[in-house]
Amino acid sequence: GPADIAVGEKSIHPSASVVTTQDRQRVKGHKGRVFWLTGLSGSGKSTLARAAENALFSAGVDVSVLDGDTLRAGLCKDLGFTEADRTENVRRAAEVARILRDAGQVVLVALISPLRSDRELARQIIGDGFEEVFVDADLGTCEQRDPKGLYAAARAGKINGFTGIDAPYEAPQAPALRVATGNGSVENAVAQLVSFVEGSVRAG
Ligand code: PPS
Repeated sequence: GPADIAVGEKSIHPSASVVTTQDRQRVKGHKGRVFWLTGLSGSGKSTLARAAENALFSAGVDVSVLDGDTLRAGLCKDLGFTEADRTENVRRAAEVARILRDAGQVVLVALISPLRSDRELARQIIGDGFEEVFVDADLGTCEQRDPKGLYAAARAGKINGFTGIDAPYEAPQAPALRVATGNGSVENAVAQLVSFVEGSVRAG
């Protein structure tokens, strides 16, 4: 089994599953994988993830979504938007995604996750089967949409450290998939993500 890990005074003993990855794949008909959607606020991550979830589920995929706003209402409700808190937010989401992936699910994570180093951390936690998806709409478009009024609030100085305004967003340099969501139909963007996921999780 996995090696014991000494954590301070404690010694923890992780157990290994008797159910193999192959067993799970055979039962579900697809692999477990994590698709990590990164992009600016208002770029369409949640819309894309939820529509893809619906389409994939209808196609027989065991799929779930880990969405920033949802996680921040529960698991991550102690976290704000400092750099350290965003890193912790990403770390927790990655650990949960790993658990769901190990249970055989297809996991769509939708977090701004603005820093390359944080997304690298997620990749390390998740290991094989981490696919970075860049949900790409430019800042002007996101600011024009402003579905929650947060860009306006940030410009007015009512929110500090808003991503894209006075906090950084580092676009992926080599994402596994880039979905342009600035113009074009939602349906087309969803179809791109769904076919990428299908191709990746059904492959031999
Ligand atoms: S992160 O950076 O990955 O930890 O962010 P995430 O968990 O995805 O949460 C982003 C949503 O939080 C709202 N919000 C902010 N976003 C960015 N910067 C600041 N300062 C901020 N304050 C609140 C905002 O609604 C984001 O939602 P989305 O869905 O991305 O628009």
